Amino acid sequence: MTSFSNKQGSLRRFYAIGNWKMYKTIPEAENFVDQLADFLAGNENSMYVGIAAPYTVIYDLNMEVQDLELPIFIGAQNMHESHEGAYTGEIAGSMLVDVGASFVILGHSERRLIFHESNDLIAAKVKSALDCGLLPILCIGETKEQKEKGETISLLKKQIEESLQLVPSLKDKEIVLAYEPVWAIGSGKTPTVNEVQEIHVFCREILRKLYGEKAEKVSIIYGGSVNTDNARTFAEKSDIDGLLIGGASLISESFYNILINCSK
Ligand code: PGA
Repeated sequence: MTSFSNKQGSLRRFYAIGNWKMYKTIPEAENFVDQLADFLAGNENSMYVGIAAPYTVIYDLNMEVQDLELPIFIGAQNMHESHEGAYTGEIAGSMLVDVGASFVILGHSERRLIFHESNDLIAAKVKSALDCGLLPILCIGETKEQKEKGETISLLKKQIEESLQLVPSLKDKEIVLAYEPVWAIGSGKTPTVNEVQEIHVFCREILRKLYGEKAEKVSIIYGGSVNTDNARTFAEKSDIDGLLIGGASLISESFYNILINCSK
């Protein structure tokens, strides 16, 4: 039996989230989980396995996962900050819940850079997601240029503080923070595991200033060119509480191998 367990002794849940971006039709998505079914049947579900799918796929994928009784959560990659309204082409968090989404990625660098999303806008989305009962996976990360100028730490601090400005306390609500250096996304380049570990410790310090002891329970995950070869080395670090996986989550075999490599 396959068991994807939490890191021993960690207060925090381990997350493995696939970000499918604008890939996969309904048949392709169903095929993907069918291929994972045999492998995932034994997951005791202490690891949170999620797929952030295109909107059009969420409902059918969720049905398929339920039919197969697979311990996978289906989520979205973005949402509008309002609960409803005259916003042609947009989608509300409550609508995502309606089709079976459990979580939503917010503030991904592709949203920040291509669609000009600001920290203030992302903050409104985080609040709205929490109000709807969706788990927000809040992405932060520096560009190559910002890294070279030595701005990483101040930028991450600003992104965290401003994106969480409408969440005064965590109470029993849950958020996940995803550190994704922009230069590592889809590039095959990654920071070293020790660099990521240090940055996650720094991010937790910021969270501690905002939320006190509750910060210990916030999972901080890493994303950017995660693959079957490097996943485990990231997962082994005490402050890397999961992975956000783009390209390597599109092929069921490589996604499965990442899950296996991260399990103890
Ligand atoms: P990548 O993408 O794994 O293909 O680098 C990660 C992401 O964009 O979330």
